[in-house]
Amino acid sequence: MTQLSDYEFFVETTTEKYPIHVGNGLLSTLAPSLIAQLSNGSRAVVVSHPGLTGKYAQPLCDALKAAGIDCLLSTIPAGERTKSLKTVSRLYDDWAAQHLDRRTVIVAVGGGVLGDLAGFAAATYLRGVRVVQVPTTLLAQVDASIGGKTGVDLPAGKNLVGAFHQPRAVIVDPETLRTLPLRELRSGLAEVIKYGIIFDNRLFAEVKNSLPAILRRNSQYLLPAIARCCEIKAQIVSQDETEQGIRAILNFGHTIGHAVETATRYRTYKHGEAVAIGMVSACLIGEALDITPSTVTSETIEAIQRAGLPIHLPADITDEQLLQHAAHDKKARNGKLRWVLSPAIGTTCVQGDVDNTLVLKSLRRQRELPDVVG
Ligand SMILES: NC(=O)c1ccc[n+]([C@@H]2O[C@H](COP(=O)([O-])OP(=O)(O)OC[C@H]3O[C@@H](n4cnc5c(N)ncnc54)[C@H](O)[C@@H]3O)[C@@H](O)[C@H]2O)c1
Repeated sequence: MTQLSDYEFFVETTTEKYPIHVGNGLLSTLAPSLIAQLSNGSRAVVVSHPGLTGKYAQPLCDALKAAGIDCLLSTIPAGERTKSLKTVSRLYDDWAAQHLDRRTVIVAVGGGVLGDLAGFAAATYLRGVRVVQVPTTLLAQVDASIGGKTGVDLPAGKNLVGAFHQPRAVIVDPETLRTLPLRELRSGLAEVIKYGIIFDNRLFAEVKNSLPAILRRNSQYLLPAIARCCEIKAQIVSQDETEQGIRAILNFGHTIGHAVETATRYRTYKHGEAVAIGMVSACLIGEALDITPSTVTSETIEAIQRAGLPIHLPADITDEQLLQHAAHDKKARNGKLRWVLSPAIGTTCVQGDVDNTLVLKSLRRQRELPDVVG
């Protein structure tokens, strides 16, 4: 079979198989033809944010129309605080008003918030319609668009309502990152660093050494790093679609990260920033358990700081509050947290029974870290 993009990986679960295409320019080259082929005469709805329509969503819709597909555009406001049932309901109303049927293909063009929202609406509208993910943030390209987790936040916590709904294809065009604000690029880098720590020490070293070039969006470094992350995610999801086992390692840094986001009501931190803080917490908790060597902590902190990401916990939230939020995380079992820890860069282990006193002590240590470590 001919390869359709620079990099092509497959997610293969027990019931589904779909491609992840990674390559510069795919939004205008591969995306229209692939989506037109999937639509096979039925309608397509491109869902995006108003700020992304002119440059990405509308041209894609126009290209689909030119390919003979009846394409509609649905826009929803941007921002984590819109990742709610209210916004999903708005999409349902929009789609019902257009009499969309079950053969419709939803095309999600945006970051992780858009992909999670549109994916969840697609999972539930008419008991499920097909979705293609076209991620346009670094975070969504390397993580959120792959693996079929969709959902929305509740005031009680992140992603508390959702569904597994695998996309039919993921089309990653790193050229879209040229317009991404630097803070969002840095946020996505937290997940790239995470893949290195949990799975691939070579990726970790390469990314750490090329951070200045990556931050300048130099494709020579950015493209292969994105592709490797997609490959890792595809491999993990293929082994464990619904997170019964290995997929949990992707949550490295997310236990405290999600608590930080929830405690600050999604207003202060980008997702990746919160994950960066949470990765430092995970290292210090691992150290306190004699699992994580201090060199792993210092390397992690160095990478995070070089990427321009935070390492400190929010000053106005207490450690006890953070633990409380963490206990409500949907990954807790009977209120017991499961910590993903790193014994060495490139490997992880999951620890179930960690004493809260030890966690609190580690968080206190994190607060005492100097502004610049190393
Ligand atoms: N489903 C999953 O497996 C999974 C995994 C990780 C994270 N997530 C979720 O992803 C969300 C975070 O996603 P995110 O970091 O992509 O943030 P985001 O979706 O909020 O996007 C950030 C901002 O960038 C803008 N933007 C997007 N692409 C752009 C581009 N190319 N140029 C200019 N601006 C652009 C968006 O409009 C938005 O304002 C969180 O809700 C998180 O829970 C989901």
